[in-house]
Amino acid sequence: MTIQRICCIGAGYVGGPTMAVIADRCPQVQVTVVDLNQARIDAWNDPDLSRLPVYEPGLDAVVGRARGRNLSFSTAVEAAIADADMVFISVNTPTKTKGLGAGQASDLRWVEACARTVAKAAQGHTIVVEKSTLPVRTAAVIKNILEAACDGEDQRTFSVLSNPEFLAEGTAIRDLEAPDRVLIGGDDSGSIDALAEIYAHWVPQQQILRTNLWSSELSKLTANAFLAQRISSINSIAAFCEASGADVREVARAIGTDSRIGPKFLNAGPGFGGSCFQKDILNLVYLSRHFGLPEVADYWESVVALNTWQQHRIARLVVQKLFGTVTGKRLAILGFAFKADTNDTREAPAIRICQDLLEEGAQLVIHDPKVKADQMARDLNQEPASQVDRLSGIGSWAEAGSVEDAVMGADAVLVLTEWQHYRNLNWQALAARMRKPAWVFDARAVADPAQIKAAGLCLWRVGDGEG
Ligand code: UDX
Ligand code: ADP
Repeated sequence: MTIQRICCIGAGYVGGPTMAVIADRCPQVQVTVVDLNQARIDAWNDPDLSRLPVYEPGLDAVVGRARGRNLSFSTAVEAAIADADMVFISVNTPTKTKGLGAGQASDLRWVEACARTVAKAAQGHTIVVEKSTLPVRTAAVIKNILEAACDGEDQRTFSVLSNPEFLAEGTAIRDLEAPDRVLIGGDDSGSIDALAEIYAHWVPQQQILRTNLWSSELSKLTANAFLAQRISSINSIAAFCEASGADVREVARAIGTDSRIGPKFLNAGPGFGGSCFQKDILNLVYLSRHFGLPEVADYWESVVALNTWQQHRIARLVVQKLFGTVTGKRLAILGFAFKADTNDTREAPAIRICQDLLEEGAQLVIHDPKVKADQMARDLNQEPASQVDRLSGIGSWAEAGSVEDAVMGADAVLVLTEWQHYRNLNWQALAARMRKPAWVFDARAVADPAQIKAAGLCLWRVGDGEG
C-alpha cells in the first residue's frame, strides 16, 4: 500500500513541523494538518512566514516550499480524515490536573476525542498513527474505539501504529531532516511498510526501527526519562560542586569523555523544562505504581523531585545573596523560554523561579527575545504592572524590550535561558546601569565570568565552587 494522502490531527509544536518536513520530502503525498483551533490554523496559513504559530529555526523555509503545493492547514477535520489513507494523531496529552491519577497520569481526553472523530469520518482502509507521546497500551484504547465503530455491514478497516516523535524544540527541523532513528511500532507489517516508505524518502532504511506497539510507546517514555535523569544527575553534582570547590563543567568534561557516558546532555542549569520530560516521567511513575512496582515509581519520581528542588534552590540563593530580602528590589530576568531558540514556555524553569521571587515581593523585569508578554502573564498568573509601590511587599513584573532596559536600576540579573544574545553582553555597560552592590546569577553559565568580575559585579554561576 502506497500512501497518497495524509491527515494530521493537531497543528502544534509536533504536528506542524513534522508534517511540514514530510510534505517537503514527499512532494507526491498530499498532507493536510487539521486543528479545531481556528486562530492556530490561520497563523499557519499566514502569508507572512515570520508569523507562524511555532518558532523553529528553518521552519519558515520548509513551510514556504511545501504550503500551497502539497501541504495545507485547515479546520475541516472530518473532511480531511475522510480523504486520508493515513491519519496521524498529534494532539496534546498534558498531565491530569484532577480526578484519578491527578498530577501524574496523562489526560487522554483529546486523544480519545480524536479516535472517535476518526471512527466516525474515516473511509476505506485507514492507518492511524500515534504521534503524541502516550501512556503504554493507549493503542489498545484507540483500536477498541475504532473497532467498535465498524460493526455489521461496515466495510471500513483500521490499523494502528505507534510512531513517537523524538524531535527537540529549537532543533526540530534538523532532528526531523536527519533523525538518529525513526521508530515504528505495530503488529501489521503492511501498514508498517507503508509508513516506513514515507520516511525512506530521506531516512536510511537501517535507521527505521520496527518494534511491537508497546515497546514503541514505552521507548518514547524511556528515552525522555533517561535524558531527564542525566540533567537531574548533573544538577545534583552542580550543587555538590558549589559546596566543595569543584566546577561542574570540568566534571562534565571529565566524565563525558568516557565513551560509555558520552558528552551530551551534561549541561547543568536551572532544571529541565518543556512539555515532555516532567509529563513523561510522571506518566512512567503512575504506570509503575499501576503495575505494582512502587520502587520503580519512587526511583523515577526522584528525578522530578531533584528538578523542582534545583529551581527553588536558585530562587532561595538569590534571596540569600541579596542580604536575605528581595522585597521591592528590581531583578532583571534574562530568558523566559524553557530553552533557547523556542517561544515555548511550558514547564520553563523561569516560571517557578519567578513565582518564588514574586512571592518574596521582588519587582521582576523580564526580557525574552521570543516570548510575548501575554504568555508570561498566563504563566505567572499575574498581569504586568506599570506603576509599582516598592514598599508594598507585593511582587510585580513587567516586560523589558531590551536587556539594557531590563537591568536599569536592578540589584541583580538572572540568566535563565541560554539565548545566544546573552553570551555576548557588554557587562561593563550593563553594570553602569545597576544599583551596587549588583549581582549576576548565571543559571546557564553562558556569560563570561572574567568580564562580569572585571565590571565589578558579584557572580554566582551554576555548579561553580569558586564563584
Ligand atoms: C525533549 C527530547 O529531547 C525530545 O527527544 C523529545 O521528543 C521531547 O522532549 P525538548 O523538551 O524539546 O525535547 O528539549 P531538550 O533539548 O531535550 O531540553 C529539555 C530541557 O532540558 C530544557 O529545559 C533544556 O534547557 C534542559 N537541558 C537540556 C539542560 O538543562 N541541560 C542539558 O544538558 C540539556
Ligand atoms: P504538541 O506539543 O504535542 O504538538 P500542542 O498543544 O502544541 O501539543 O498542540 C496540540 C494541538 O492539538 C492544539 O493546537 C489543539 O488545538 C489540537 N487538538 C486537540 N484536540 C483536538 C481534536 N480533537 N481535533 C483537532 N485538533 C485538536
